[in-house]
Amino acid sequence: MTGKIVLAYSGGLDTSVAVRYLMHEYGFDVVTCTVDVGNEKDFTGVRDKALKVGAEKAVVIDAKQALVKDYIFPALKANALYQGKYPLATALTRPLIAKLLVETAHQENAVAVAHGCTGKGNDQVRIEVAVNTLGPELTVIAPAREWNKTRDELIDYAAKHDIPVPVTKANPYSIDKSLWGRAIECGVLEDPWTEPPEDAYKWTVAVDDAPQKAEYVEIGFFEGAPITLDGKELDGVTLIEKCSFQAGGHGIGRINMIEDRRVGIKSREIYEAPAALLLIEAHRALESLVLSREQIRFGQIVSQEFANLIYDGLWFSGLHRNLVDYIESSQQFVSGLVRLKLHRGQATVVGVKSPFSLYDYGLATYDRDDSFDPSQAAGFIHLWGLGVRVQGRKQMRPPDGA
Ligand code: ARG
Repeated sequence: MTGKIVLAYSGGLDTSVAVRYLMHEYGFDVVTCTVDVGNEKDFTGVRDKALKVGAEKAVVIDAKQALVKDYIFPALKANALYQGKYPLATALTRPLIAKLLVETAHQENAVAVAHGCTGKGNDQVRIEVAVNTLGPELTVIAPAREWNKTRDELIDYAAKHDIPVPVTKANPYSIDKSLWGRAIECGVLEDPWTEPPEDAYKWTVAVDDAPQKAEYVEIGFFEGAPITLDGKELDGVTLIEKCSFQAGGHGIGRINMIEDRRVGIKSREIYEAPAALLLIEAHRALESLVLSREQIRFGQIVSQEFANLIYDGLWFSGLHRNLVDYIESSQQFVSGLVRLKLHRGQATVVGVKSPFSLYDYGLATYDRDDSFDPSQAAGFIHLWGLGVRVQGRKQMRPPDGA
């Protein structure tokens, strides 16, 4: 094939080899597109490396603000945790990366796009479903799915073709990072019985090494999004970075799970997501104060649906638009302050307040200021239990009635 291809380029081993592969095996002119989602510090280095391994042009896009505003905050507002645990740090970046790939392909008049995902993971699904939706005329090529090389073979290929190798056999993990968390895979972690070695973690200290003394943080929310940290107004990117650093320093944010990939494979996943876990905990606490019981219950269903669709790569779907509308409208009164105690691996909410609080001291208290009229309770219970009593009279069976 001739013409231009835009390759999603991280600067890692697979995508560096992919530049060569697309040039030699396909005859493409390669433009690399590197998206800054908070994953890297040295983007000049990544750019230089892309050009060195043969790209004709290397584009770097800072997408951190967009990631926070359009992807991370909506997920936070939904308390989205895939399988109740994973805050979707990788999954949330893929639709954004795909969107930027398509935009770059259009700007460069490219005929195709490529990515470095393997054939076993979720990321190929997320990127390709999104690209096929946003740029249906573009061909998608997935070199790592075609070449079928083991990691060691890949390292040898890279060495032979003078491609700098960041992975050595002593650094055996495959890492993916975004502002929302860090995913660690491969090596000894592939045995679910093996406890992750300390060297797998970079953003969190071990609980044993966490400070003895607790630290407190106050997070201010406006309509579901965090806007202040300890009284200081911060942009979303900075706020997340600071939360990550602070909570990680107390050993908060480690996740160890068996996860069900979209393609049907169970995998052992290790994550570090201090900011995500801290902010979701805080956000939930605020919701518990300002939302009704029914809104909270329905929110849990929405939360799971939203997490699944993000995980499954259905970001640019109608269901996504519908759920976002619901989530946004549910956040109208989710404004207020949450105080958390960070201590030895735990972020515990210790206080919460809001101008829209539904907590009524007079109704809740057992003290003198009690304004609740208990005489209404007996009638309420009588009617509430009516159906159960009728059923009990007609259909009681042991052992229910024992
Ligand atoms: N299992 C996670 C997910 O599917 C993390 C994947 C990490 N991706 C990677 N390319 N290493 O979202």
